[in-house]
Amino acid sequence: MPELGLNIDHVATLREARYRDWKKGLAPEPGVLEAARVAEKVGVDAITVHLREDRRHIQEADVKELSRVISIPLNLEMAATAAMTRHALIIKPEEVCLVPESREEVTTEGGLDVAGDIPRLKGVIAKLHSAKIEVSAFIDADLKQVEAAHRVGAQTVELHTGTYANATTLRACRAELARHARAAAFAHEIGLRVNAGHGLHYSNVREYIEDVPHLHTLNIGHAIIARAVFVGLEKAIREMLVLLGSREFAPNAD
Ligand code: PXP
Repeated sequence: MPELGLNIDHVATLREARYRDWKKGLAPEPGVLEAARVAEKVGVDAITVHLREDRRHIQEADVKELSRVISIPLNLEMAATAAMTRHALIIKPEEVCLVPESREEVTTEGGLDVAGDIPRLKGVIAKLHSAKIEVSAFIDADLKQVEAAHRVGAQTVELHTGTYANATTLRACRAELARHARAAAFAHEIGLRVNAGHGLHYSNVREYIEDVPHLHTLNIGHAIIARAVFVGLEKAIREMLVLLGSREFAPNAD
């Protein structure tokens, strides 16, 4: 029964659509902190935010405030750059997830090429570890990348589920599930914790957790925040928790 890490980036996307460069004293909405509080109350296990270099949604002030106020773990997604590492060392989230990043992309498009960047990533991860920050590497479900993540010192791999989520044929979907099952089994065998995320949805998450072993946390954002527009955040989260098996089905809960 995997845990749920709720990614609240798109609460900030909505806020930034109106309140870019907001000044202190205003109460810009929707509030990122308020969303995290609701998530915590409903039983989400961790909050995930991506502090992008272009600051298109989450801002540094959000991450600082979240890390100060919430009592569930904060997972900070970030590029493995010197500037972002400095931010992380000041903010000290419980976990950092290293992701590849390009300014042109709409969302994170592929896994981090850990195998092709070992010395640099080792240095970044050692610095994060020195501040007692756990490190996860967001990678494609590829055995070479899993092994490289272990070599650079990451404690966790987050398997990129985008190709699975976007598969349009049953065959492609099954092939992806098999690839993820192999990567997860290997990661577990060599002592890594296994997370997964990207594009997971109410419609595809059950099949994923039934086929892929050793899942610790699923990081899910867009599907839940999008559903929240129609049913409210509490209900949207509860519906996902039911699918993950962490809640009994309660038809009248709202
Ligand atoms: N995990 C990582 C590393 C991501 O970059 C994202 C997207 O920001 C997610 C999980 C969540 O993806 P989604 O919003 O599609 O659920």
